[in-house]
Amino acid sequence: MTTIKTIGVLTSGGDAPGMNAAVRAVTRAGIAKGFKIKAIYRGYEGLIKGEIKEFTTENVSGIIDHGGTILRTARSERFTTEEGMAEAYKSLKKEEIDALVVIGGNGSLTGAMQFAQKYDIACIGLPGTIDNDLYGTDSTIGYDTTLNTIVECVDRIRDTATSHERIFFVEVMGRDAGFLAQNSAIASGAEAAIIPEDYTDVDQLEQFLTRGIRKSKKSCIVIVSESKKYGAMYYADRVKKEFPDYDVRVTILGHLQRGGSPSAYDRILASQTGYGAIEAIVQGQRNVMVGIRNNEVVYVPFAEAIRSDKPLNKKLIKILDDLSI
Ligand code: F6P
Repeated sequence: MTTIKTIGVLTSGGDAPGMNAAVRAVTRAGIAKGFKIKAIYRGYEGLIKGEIKEFTTENVSGIIDHGGTILRTARSERFTTEEGMAEAYKSLKKEEIDALVVIGGNGSLTGAMQFAQKYDIACIGLPGTIDNDLYGTDSTIGYDTTLNTIVECVDRIRDTATSHERIFFVEVMGRDAGFLAQNSAIASGAEAAIIPEDYTDVDQLEQFLTRGIRKSKKSCIVIVSESKKYGAMYYADRVKKEFPDYDVRVTILGHLQRGGSPSAYDRILASQTGYGAIEAIVQGQRNVMVGIRNNEVVYVPFAEAIRSDKPLNKKLIKILDDLSI
Protein backbone atom coordinates (compact mmCIF):
# COMPACT_ATOMS: atom_id res chain seq x y z
CA MET A 1 0.00 0.00 0.00
CA THR A 2 1.42 3.43 -0.97
CA THR A 3 1.81 6.20 1.58
CA ILE A 4 -0.78 8.80 0.75
CA LYS A 5 0.52 12.30 0.11
CA THR A 6 -1.87 13.70 -2.48
CA ILE A 7 -5.66 13.41 -2.53
CA GLY A 8 -7.83 14.06 -5.57
CA VAL A 9 -11.42 15.22 -5.15
CA LEU A 10 -14.20 15.22 -7.71
CA THR A 11 -17.98 15.61 -7.95
CA SER A 12 -19.88 13.26 -10.23
CA GLY A 13 -23.42 12.56 -11.45
CA GLY A 14 -26.28 14.95 -10.78
CA ASP A 15 -25.28 18.10 -8.89
CA ALA A 16 -26.68 18.34 -5.37
CA PRO A 17 -26.84 21.31 -2.96
CA GLY A 18 -24.04 20.87 -0.44
CA MET A 19 -21.49 19.44 -2.88
CA ASN A 20 -19.50 22.67 -2.60
CA ALA A 21 -19.54 22.47 1.18
CA ALA A 22 -18.18 18.93 0.84
CA VAL A 23 -15.39 20.02 -1.53
CA ARG A 24 -14.51 22.78 0.95
CA ALA A 25 -14.42 20.33 3.87
CA VAL A 26 -12.25 17.80 2.02
CA THR A 27 -9.85 20.53 0.85
CA ARG A 28 -9.46 22.29 4.18
CA ALA A 29 -9.36 19.15 6.37
CA GLY A 30 -6.92 17.57 3.93
CA ILE A 31 -4.55 20.54 3.92
CA ALA A 32 -4.79 20.80 7.72
CA LYS A 33 -3.65 17.16 7.96
CA GLY A 34 -0.68 17.81 5.67
CA PHE A 35 -2.00 16.41 2.37
CA LYS A 36 -1.78 18.05 -1.02
CA ILE A 37 -5.29 18.45 -2.49
CA LYS A 38 -5.94 18.27 -6.21
CA ALA A 39 -9.33 19.23 -7.63
CA ILE A 40 -10.53 17.20 -10.58
CA TYR A 41 -13.00 19.01 -12.84
CA ARG A 42 -16.06 17.49 -14.57
CA GLY A 43 -16.14 14.22 -12.65
CA TYR A 44 -14.65 11.05 -14.11
CA GLU A 45 -14.76 12.63 -17.56
CA GLY A 46 -12.34 15.34 -16.42
CA LEU A 47 -10.20 12.74 -14.69
CA ILE A 48 -9.83 10.86 -17.98
CA LYS A 49 -8.90 14.10 -19.74
CA GLY A 50 -6.56 15.24 -16.95
CA GLU A 51 -8.50 18.40 -15.99
CA ILE A 52 -6.79 18.69 -12.63
CA LYS A 53 -5.57 21.62 -10.54
CA GLU A 54 -3.98 21.87 -7.10
CA PHE A 55 -6.23 23.61 -4.55
CA THR A 56 -5.25 25.86 -1.66
CA THR A 57 -7.62 26.77 1.15
CA GLU A 58 -8.49 29.98 -0.77
CA ASN A 59 -9.88 28.04 -3.71
CA VAL A 60 -12.81 26.97 -1.55
CA SER A 61 -13.52 30.34 0.07
CA GLY A 62 -17.06 31.68 -0.13
CA ILE A 63 -18.62 28.53 -1.59
CA ILE A 64 -20.34 26.89 1.41
CA ASP A 65 -23.63 28.62 0.56
CA HIS A 66 -23.52 27.93 -3.19
CA GLY A 67 -25.64 25.26 -4.88
CA GLY A 68 -24.34 23.18 -7.79
CA THR A 69 -20.65 22.33 -7.82
CA ILE A 70 -17.66 24.57 -8.53
CA LEU A 71 -15.86 21.46 -9.78
CA ARG A 72 -18.60 20.94 -12.39
CA THR A 73 -19.92 17.46 -12.89
CA ALA A 74 -20.70 14.91 -15.57
CA ARG A 75 -22.16 11.48 -16.12
CA SER A 76 -19.26 9.68 -17.80
CA GLU A 77 -20.01 6.80 -20.16
CA ARG A 78 -16.31 6.38 -20.87
CA PHE A 79 -15.46 5.68 -17.23
CA THR A 80 -17.67 2.57 -17.39
CA THR A 81 -15.28 1.06 -19.96
CA GLU A 82 -11.89 -0.59 -19.33
CA GLU A 83 -10.17 1.89 -21.62
CA GLY A 84 -11.75 4.86 -19.82
CA MET A 85 -10.67 3.56 -16.42
CA ALA A 86 -7.15 2.93 -17.69
CA GLU A 87 -6.94 6.54 -18.95
CA ALA A 88 -8.28 7.79 -15.61
CA TYR A 89 -5.62 5.81 -13.73
CA LYS A 90 -2.92 7.23 -16.02
CA SER A 91 -4.08 10.76 -15.12
CA LEU A 92 -3.90 9.95 -11.41
CA LYS A 93 -0.38 8.55 -11.75
CA LYS A 94 0.75 11.58 -13.77
CA GLU A 95 -0.56 13.93 -11.06
CA GLU A 96 0.83 11.67 -8.30
CA ILE A 97 -2.62 11.34 -6.74
CA ASP A 98 -2.69 8.41 -4.29
CA ALA A 99 -6.26 8.65 -3.01
CA LEU A 100 -9.53 9.77 -4.53
CA VAL A 101 -12.57 11.30 -2.83
CA VAL A 102 -15.68 10.91 -4.97
CA ILE A 103 -18.72 13.02 -4.11
CA GLY A 104 -21.75 11.60 -5.88
CA GLY A 105 -24.70 9.25 -5.93
CA ASN A 106 -25.26 5.59 -6.61
CA GLY A 107 -23.72 5.45 -10.11
CA SER A 108 -20.70 7.50 -9.10
CA LEU A 109 -19.91 5.33 -6.07
CA THR A 110 -20.41 2.19 -8.15
CA GLY A 111 -17.78 3.61 -10.50
CA ALA A 112 -15.45 4.31 -7.58
CA MET A 113 -15.88 0.76 -6.28
CA GLN A 114 -15.13 -0.82 -9.66
CA PHE A 115 -12.13 1.47 -10.17
CA ALA A 116 -10.69 0.58 -6.76
CA GLN A 117 -11.19 -3.12 -7.46
CA LYS A 118 -9.10 -2.82 -10.62
CA TYR A 119 -6.40 -0.35 -9.62
CA ASP A 120 -4.30 0.31 -6.54
CA ILE A 121 -6.01 3.50 -5.48
CA ALA A 122 -7.66 4.34 -2.17
CA CYS A 123 -11.19 5.53 -2.92
CA ILE A 124 -13.47 7.22 -0.42
CA GLY A 125 -17.05 8.19 -1.28
CA LEU A 126 -19.27 10.95 0.00
CA PRO A 127 -23.04 10.56 -0.47
CA GLY A 128 -23.85 13.46 -2.79
CA THR A 129 -27.33 13.07 -4.28
CA ILE A 130 -30.77 14.56 -3.83
CA ASP A 131 -32.31 11.07 -4.12
CA ASN A 132 -31.28 9.83 -0.64
CA ASP A 133 -30.95 6.34 -2.10
CA LEU A 134 -27.60 5.35 -0.60
CA TYR A 135 -27.72 2.60 1.98
CA GLY A 136 -26.10 2.99 5.40
CA THR A 137 -26.50 6.74 5.76
CA ASP A 138 -29.52 8.46 7.27
CA SER A 139 -29.37 11.20 4.70
CA THR A 140 -27.42 12.17 1.60
CA ILE A 141 -25.93 15.59 0.82
CA GLY A 142 -28.59 17.60 -1.05
CA TYR A 143 -31.64 15.62 0.01
CA ASP A 144 -32.74 17.96 2.80
CA THR A 145 -32.42 21.08 0.64
CA THR A 146 -34.38 19.50 -2.21
CA LEU A 147 -37.08 18.32 0.17
CA ASN A 148 -37.48 21.88 1.43
CA THR A 149 -37.56 23.27 -2.10
CA ILE A 150 -40.31 20.82 -3.07
CA VAL A 151 -42.33 21.68 0.02
CA GLU A 152 -42.05 25.38 -0.76
CA CYS A 153 -43.31 24.75 -4.30
CA VAL A 154 -46.17 22.54 -3.15
CA ASP A 155 -47.25 25.16 -0.60
CA ARG A 156 -47.66 27.56 -3.52
CA ILE A 157 -49.48 25.03 -5.68
CA ARG A 158 -51.84 24.46 -2.76
CA ASP A 159 -53.12 28.03 -3.11
CA THR A 160 -54.23 27.35 -6.66
CA ALA A 161 -55.52 23.86 -5.88
CA THR A 162 -57.68 25.24 -3.08
CA SER A 163 -58.89 28.30 -5.01
CA HIS A 164 -59.92 26.32 -8.10
CA GLU A 165 -60.89 23.14 -6.24
CA ARG A 166 -58.59 21.03 -8.40
CA ILE A 167 -56.61 17.81 -8.20
CA PHE A 168 -52.92 18.49 -8.76
CA PHE A 169 -50.42 15.78 -9.60
CA VAL A 170 -46.98 17.11 -8.72
CA GLU A 171 -44.06 15.10 -10.07
CA VAL A 172 -40.80 15.11 -8.14
CA MET A 173 -37.39 13.53 -8.78
CA GLY A 174 -35.87 10.59 -6.95
CA ARG A 175 -34.92 8.23 -9.77
CA ASP A 176 -36.00 4.83 -8.41
CA ALA A 177 -36.50 5.95 -4.82
CA GLY A 178 -39.56 7.51 -3.21
CA PHE A 179 -37.92 9.41 -0.34
CA LEU A 180 -38.48 12.85 -1.87
CA ALA A 181 -42.08 12.06 -2.84
CA GLN A 182 -43.09 10.47 0.42
CA ASN A 183 -41.52 12.97 2.75
CA SER A 184 -42.45 16.07 0.75
CA ALA A 185 -46.04 14.77 0.79
CA ILE A 186 -46.00 14.52 4.58
CA ALA A 187 -44.33 17.88 5.04
CA SER A 188 -46.63 19.73 2.67
CA GLY A 189 -49.82 18.07 3.91
CA ALA A 190 -50.43 16.51 0.49
CA GLU A 191 -53.26 14.00 0.24
CA ALA A 192 -51.17 11.16 -1.17
CA ALA A 193 -47.81 10.09 -2.54
CA ILE A 194 -47.34 7.62 -5.35
CA ILE A 195 -43.92 6.04 -4.93
CA PRO A 196 -41.94 3.31 -6.69
CA GLU A 197 -41.53 1.28 -3.51
CA ASP A 198 -45.31 0.71 -3.57
CA TYR A 199 -45.73 -0.20 -7.27
CA THR A 200 -46.08 -3.87 -6.40
CA ASP A 201 -49.63 -5.22 -6.57
CA VAL A 202 -51.99 -2.44 -5.61
CA ASP A 203 -53.09 0.32 -7.93
CA GLN A 204 -52.12 3.33 -5.81
CA LEU A 205 -54.36 5.73 -7.70
CA GLU A 206 -57.37 3.43 -7.45
CA GLN A 207 -56.71 2.98 -3.76
CA PHE A 208 -56.47 6.70 -3.26
CA LEU A 209 -59.61 7.55 -5.20
CA THR A 210 -61.78 4.80 -3.77
CA ARG A 211 -60.76 5.82 -0.29
CA GLY A 212 -62.95 8.78 -1.10
CA ILE A 213 -60.40 11.49 -0.63
CA ARG A 214 -62.70 13.93 -2.37
CA LYS A 215 -65.54 13.27 0.07
CA SER A 216 -64.04 15.45 2.69
CA LYS A 217 -61.99 17.77 0.49
CA LYS A 218 -62.72 19.82 -2.54
CA SER A 219 -59.13 19.90 -3.73
CA CYS A 220 -56.13 17.68 -3.36
CA ILE A 221 -52.46 17.29 -4.13
CA VAL A 222 -50.86 14.00 -5.05
CA ILE A 223 -47.06 13.86 -5.13
CA VAL A 224 -45.81 11.42 -7.75
CA SER A 225 -42.28 10.04 -8.02
CA GLU A 226 -40.80 10.46 -11.48
CA SER A 227 -41.09 7.36 -13.60
CA LYS A 228 -40.78 6.69 -17.33
CA LYS A 229 -44.12 4.88 -17.34
CA TYR A 230 -46.07 6.00 -14.30
CA GLY A 231 -45.30 9.70 -13.97
CA ALA A 232 -47.73 12.48 -13.07
CA MET A 233 -49.03 12.68 -16.67
CA TYR A 234 -50.02 9.02 -16.58
CA TYR A 235 -52.12 9.45 -13.45
CA ALA A 236 -53.63 12.74 -14.56
CA ASP A 237 -54.70 11.20 -17.87
CA ARG A 238 -56.30 8.31 -16.06
CA VAL A 239 -58.26 10.55 -13.74
CA LYS A 240 -59.39 12.69 -16.67
CA LYS A 241 -60.72 9.56 -18.39
CA GLU A 242 -62.13 7.74 -15.38
CA PHE A 243 -63.44 10.78 -13.47
CA PRO A 244 -64.24 13.44 -16.08
CA ASP A 245 -65.85 15.69 -13.48
CA TYR A 246 -62.56 16.38 -11.74
CA ASP A 247 -60.54 19.42 -12.73
CA VAL A 248 -57.02 18.03 -13.04
CA ARG A 249 -53.64 19.72 -13.44
CA VAL A 250 -50.03 18.52 -13.54
CA THR A 251 -46.86 20.24 -12.34
CA ILE A 252 -43.51 18.62 -13.06
CA LEU A 253 -40.95 20.29 -10.83
CA GLY A 254 -37.94 18.97 -12.79
CA HIS A 255 -34.55 20.56 -12.29
CA LEU A 256 -36.01 23.45 -10.37
CA GLN A 257 -35.76 21.20 -7.31
CA ARG A 258 -32.05 20.34 -7.67
CA GLY A 259 -30.42 23.77 -7.47
CA GLY A 260 -30.27 26.44 -4.83
CA SER A 261 -28.36 27.30 -1.70
CA PRO A 262 -27.93 24.27 0.60
CA SER A 263 -29.85 24.08 3.86
CA ALA A 264 -27.97 24.29 7.17
CA TYR A 265 -28.51 20.54 7.56
CA ASP A 266 -26.85 19.77 4.22
CA ARG A 267 -23.94 22.11 4.93
CA ILE A 268 -23.31 20.40 8.27
CA LEU A 269 -23.69 16.93 6.75
CA ALA A 270 -21.25 17.85 3.96
CA SER A 271 -18.76 19.31 6.46
CA GLN A 272 -18.97 16.29 8.76
CA THR A 273 -18.63 13.70 6.01
CA GLY A 274 -15.99 15.68 4.10
CA TYR A 275 -13.91 15.90 7.28
CA GLY A 276 -14.67 12.21 7.86
CA ALA A 277 -13.27 11.34 4.42
CA ILE A 278 -9.88 12.76 5.37
CA GLU A 279 -9.96 10.97 8.73
CA ALA A 280 -10.77 7.75 6.88
CA ILE A 281 -7.68 8.20 4.70
CA VAL A 282 -5.51 8.92 7.77
CA GLN A 283 -6.84 5.73 9.39
CA GLY A 284 -5.92 3.73 6.28
CA GLN A 285 -9.50 3.02 5.22
CA ARG A 286 -10.35 2.55 1.56
CA ASN A 287 -13.36 1.73 -0.54
CA VAL A 288 -15.90 3.07 1.90
CA MET A 289 -18.57 5.73 1.78
CA VAL A 290 -18.65 8.18 4.67
CA GLY A 291 -22.20 8.40 5.96
CA ILE A 292 -24.08 9.61 8.96
CA ARG A 293 -26.15 7.46 11.31
CA ASN A 294 -27.78 8.86 14.42
CA ASN A 295 -25.54 11.92 14.13
CA GLU A 296 -22.36 9.83 14.12
CA VAL A 297 -20.02 9.53 11.16
CA VAL A 298 -19.94 5.94 9.86
CA TYR A 299 -17.90 4.17 7.20
CA VAL A 300 -19.97 2.00 4.90
CA PRO A 301 -18.30 -0.39 2.41
CA PHE A 302 -19.14 0.66 -1.17
CA ALA A 303 -20.87 -2.64 -1.93
CA GLU A 304 -23.27 -2.03 0.94
CA ALA A 305 -23.83 1.67 0.20
CA ILE A 306 -24.94 1.05 -3.38
CA ARG A 307 -27.44 -1.69 -2.48
CA SER A 308 -30.66 -0.82 -4.24
CA ASP A 309 -32.98 -1.57 -1.35
CA LYS A 310 -32.58 1.33 1.05
CA PRO A 311 -35.89 1.02 2.88
CA LEU A 312 -38.44 3.77 3.25
CA ASN A 313 -39.93 4.13 6.68
CA LYS A 314 -43.22 2.26 6.19
CA LYS A 315 -44.69 3.90 9.26
CA LEU A 316 -44.48 7.22 7.41
CA ILE A 317 -46.67 5.84 4.60
CA LYS A 318 -49.34 5.06 7.21
CA ILE A 319 -48.89 8.46 8.84
CA LEU A 320 -49.39 10.18 5.48
CA ASP A 321 -52.53 8.14 4.80
CA ASP A 322 -54.04 8.71 8.22
CA LEU A 323 -53.28 12.42 8.38
CA SER A 324 -54.55 13.26 4.93
CA ILE A 325 -58.24 12.50 5.56
O1 F6P B 1 -29.79 11.50 -9.30
C1 F6P B 1 -30.26 12.80 -9.23
C2 F6P B 1 -31.34 13.06 -10.26
O2 F6P B 1 -31.79 14.38 -10.12
C3 F6P B 1 -32.50 12.08 -10.25
O3 F6P B 1 -33.44 12.36 -9.25
C4 F6P B 1 -33.03 12.23 -11.65
O4 F6P B 1 -33.68 11.04 -12.05
C5 F6P B 1 -31.78 12.45 -12.45
O5 F6P B 1 -30.79 12.92 -11.56
C6 F6P B 1 -31.92 13.42 -13.59
O6 F6P B 1 -30.70 13.47 -14.27
P1 F6P B 1 -30.30 14.56 -15.34
O7 F6P B 1 -30.11 15.86 -14.66
O8 F6P B 1 -29.03 14.01 -15.92
O9 F6P B 1 -31.42 14.60 -16.32
